[in-house]
Amino acid sequence: MAAVVRMMEAELAAVERQFERNLDSRVPLIQTVGRYVLTSGGKRIRPLLLLLSARLCGYRGDRAVPLASIVEFIHTATLLHDDVVDDADLRRGQKSANTVWGNEATVLVGDFLFSKSFSLMVGDGDLRVLRAMADATTALAEGEILELLKTCDLDVTVEEYLDVIRNKTAVLIAAACEVGALLGVADEGRVAALKGYGMDVGIAFQLVDDCLDFVGDRERFGKPVGADLEEGKITLPVIHALGAATDEERDRVARLVEQDAFSDDDRAWVREFVVRRGGVDAALGMARDRVEQAKARLAAFPACPEREALGVVADYVVARDR
Ligand code: FPP
Ligand code: MG
Repeated sequence: MAAVVRMMEAELAAVERQFERNLDSRVPLIQTVGRYVLTSGGKRIRPLLLLLSARLCGYRGDRAVPLASIVEFIHTATLLHDDVVDDADLRRGQKSANTVWGNEATVLVGDFLFSKSFSLMVGDGDLRVLRAMADATTALAEGEILELLKTCDLDVTVEEYLDVIRNKTAVLIAAACEVGALLGVADEGRVAALKGYGMDVGIAFQLVDDCLDFVGDRERFGKPVGADLEEGKITLPVIHALGAATDEERDRVARLVEQDAFSDDDRAWVREFVVRRGGVDAALGMARDRVEQAKARLAAFPACPEREALGVVADYVVARDR
């Protein structure tokens, strides 16, 4: 992955500079909160995928960097809102914005980043790009609401879970790839191949996130481990573990999700239960299959450094620990 980041170093640095211009506002709190989250060590997966997709499709112009900064802005807006919804106090190893500035300021700065993104896309002037991003953000909000409706529901199915993560996470990653493809000269089949690649990578990304929630290292992951179940989120590792659980184990999970907070013993038990019942292995297996599917879609393109780099990013998504 380090080689891919090196290959795209100049453009990624330009994306970072673009953030500063995008944050320009007469209201200082916007810059303060915006800089705080944007410099907190995000992986920049979405801008990277947009830039690589554009290059893979032969684009060498100056629209890719601003659009790559926009997709990260939208992602950042959703994280600000998400941390308020989840009442999270840690993000990327530092205090979440809502912990530092409160819910009101955090939601409103998220609104600014979101609105500014659309304003910048209007400036770019390509309706196909606007359509891709508008559809993605609509689906994203739907995904979050679907997840909310399934909170604490131990009967949630694998299909329902996949519907949630496809919408809340994968559609934006797919849109990043699609927008990159739209900048270049790709026929419909190739645009669809890159969008499909992004969808598979996005699903794998969230599956791995949901595994790291149980088996990740708090320092590396930058988020509290075991938080999903505490928030009432029934993710694939839990769904799978419940499928193999005894009645006593299922009853204990049912009692736990109704609790406001877990004790250290609860956390240790949940982690041990989910791992022992094969939940983490099953979710990682599913993520690996998705990554293979994503890489197979790249066969629509001739071999070149960008295609290879997209393969490396897909592999990184399942190998990552943060
Ligand atoms: C992280 O999931 C959350 C998302 C990927 C999407 C959040 C989207 C919204 C709050 C709604 C839409 C907002 C806008 C501005 C359109 P997670 O909570 O499982 O992951 P985490 O552990 O990183 O918090
Ligand atoms: Mg969250």
